[in-house]
Amino acid sequence: MQARWYEADIERVIVTEEQIREKTADLAKQVAADYGSVNELLLVCILKGAVMFMADFTRELGRIGPPLELEFMSAASYGQGTTSSGVVRVRADLDRSIAGRHVLVVEDIIDSGLTLSWLLKYLASRGAASVEVVTLLRKPEAMRSAPPLKYVGFDIPTEFVVGYGLDYNERYRELPYVGVLRPEAGAAS
Ligand code: PRP
Repeated sequence: MQARWYEADIERVIVTEEQIREKTADLAKQVAADYGSVNELLLVCILKGAVMFMADFTRELGRIGPPLELEFMSAASYGQGTTSSGVVRVRADLDRSIAGRHVLVVEDIIDSGLTLSWLLKYLASRGAASVEVVTLLRKPEAMRSAPPLKYVGFDIPTEFVVGYGLDYNERYRELPYVGVLRPEAGAAS
């Protein structure tokens, strides 16, 4: 088979397609069990990185969980580089009220935890009945600074990762797995 263009840029794969598939199904089962008694659940995808996970997770949960509604927000903590700036900027806000709703934030990665800490306060201030978080990936720093999370896919090392929604300067989001970029491909972690 012909090599894909990005393979030369990836040092190693840390979460495979198969692992993502299995973990997404597991997380959906846990969420379905915990929300068995609610009338509906509002999934809030944090763009852009969570878009792949949101689509796959929603399909899994849709088969076994309560009725779902989908909302999208864009809140960025990174600039153009590879480390958190510490500044959260809302690029696109929710366009409907979440008052009284059960909200599940869908994230691709919790790194410094800054984005999430800000988001949880923001969503609570908008009157959600409950707010929980499901994230595919979590880095060690987040365990110190972000609140404890119920639904975490993989704890990964402190390295700059791309793929399955995660980018480096807007590239590599389409990769079907999560991998570490070779330093010469541009990311100095
Ligand atoms: C990423 C990720 C989280 C945030 C986590 O988004 O999707 O929202 O960073 O970082 P933190 O825990 O250090 O705050 P990013 O700002 O890169 O935007 P993008 O998803 O549009 O690429």
